[in-house]
Amino acid sequence: MKTTRTAAAPPLAGLSDYARTARKGAVAPFSNFKVGAALLTVDGEIITGCNVESATYGLTMCAERIAVFKAVSEGFRKFSAIAVVADSHTVTPPCGSCRQVLWELCGDIWVHTSDLKGHKKTVRLSRLLPEPFDKRFL
Ligand code: THU
Repeated sequence: MKTTRTAAAPPLAGLSDYARTARKGAVAPFSNFKVGAALLTVDGEIITGCNVESATYGLTMCAERIAVFKAVSEGFRKFSAIAVVADSHTVTPPCGSCRQVLWELCGDIWVHTSDLKGHKKTVRLSRLLPEPFDKRFL
């Protein structure tokens, strides 16, 4: 999905709709675990991502990092929330690598996770990544 402009920031449920749609583009032939993400800027722009896997496994990139790298590469710098959608037995939180990258590039945003069955959970990133390492230590 292309970057979308919205007049006003949608509620987090609306943001999840973008993540759910982005998830359909996932390239996950090895895990068959599809993930979609939608990152919301403070100005109401939405940038989406999906996971893309590599046959070397380690080069696989998560949906969240694809969304944030897309956004930053397009010039977006200030974010307020990310929605993540997967289809597991419960909601899927961002992995450790994504938490670190989100923290460094987005700050203490809201992280809204949900699944296809309607389970959902919203927390601040600082709750998922307490005591983070970042540029303040360099
Ligand atoms: N994955 C994500 O895209 N985001 C997460 O937060 C967790 C994991 C992807 C990576 C891989 O393609 C698949 O899910 C299984 O780990």
